[in-house]
Amino acid sequence: MKNKWKNLIGKRILISGKGGSGKSTLVTLMAKALQEKGYNVLALDGDASNPYGLFKLICGTKKKTPPKPLIEFFGGIEKVGCPVDQPSSLTRLNNHIPVPSKRIDILKEIPKDYFVRRKRLILFQAGKIKEYGQGCDGPIEKVVRDFMVKGNYVHLIDVKAGIEHFGRKISERVDIILIVVDPTLESISIAKRIREFCKSMKMKDFWLILNKIRSNKIRSQMIKKLGRLKDRVIGTVQCDSKIIKSILEGKLKSEKQTLKEIKEIIEKLENFEGK
Ligand SMILES: Nc1ncnc2c1ncn2[C@@H]1O[C@H](COP(=O)(O)OP(=O)(O)O)[C@@H](O)[C@H]1O
Ligand SMILES: [Mg+2]
Repeated sequence: MKNKWKNLIGKRILISGKGGSGKSTLVTLMAKALQEKGYNVLALDGDASNPYGLFKLICGTKKKTPPKPLIEFFGGIEKVGCPVDQPSSLTRLNNHIPVPSKRIDILKEIPKDYFVRRKRLILFQAGKIKEYGQGCDGPIEKVVRDFMVKGNYVHLIDVKAGIEHFGRKISERVDIILIVVDPTLESISIAKRIREFCKSMKMKDFWLILNKIRSNKIRSQMIKKLGRLKDRVIGTVQCDSKIIKSILEGKLKSEKQTLKEIKEIIEKLENFEGK
């Protein structure tokens, strides 16, 4: 039988959905589950609005210094430019070849203070909004769109809530889109909107993860409300009180059952990608 576990190597997976639906939480848990399966993982925090973001969830409170924002490596907001007004690709500071055409060699090209390494995981931050009046976060999203590297990583890309990144075509260079849906109507309507974007982009690989599910009854209610989108549900993640408690302390912890649910989702993705 073909070994399926390698099927996600090199894939760029975008995690999208409503604010608070659990995107960053699921990115953190997927990073853990993928590493346990033997993958190398590149997690990219592309949410400019969130001061600590993935860094605290993954590293906890002991490690104080977050990675430097990648936008600085690429010359800052002005140099990078907004992906709508300046759709040209991201380039290195002293080289005009687009990054997606000549992928970055992380260890040779990027100084160590731009990333955090943990076992098989490497974490980057695209950039954070720090100053009042700093301007639009489009350039940070261009970094998210074009930061492509050499090596055998599975990329997990955590983005800002909502759908703005689709307006900026950030999704153009991703292989799989996962939409996190919590039990709210808002979340369901955002998922439906994303489905329309995926149709326009001719992106077939998009899947829904139902998150924070307390009971089968709630799951069934959500499935009903999803209509045709129900065929896109790839998995369900329970509402986990260990997540809620641990997050107050800093570093994310979860029940074994939750991680098992995440691993099942990964296995389904591996099977789809193997076809
Ligand atoms: N499966 C879950 N069970 C319990 N709480 C969860 C679960 N997933 C996420 N949460 C909680 O929901 C809140 C929002 O999660 P977060 O990952 O920050 O969402 P997002 O990144 O989509 O804005 C956090 O407080 C997190 O602890
Ligand atoms: Mg988040």
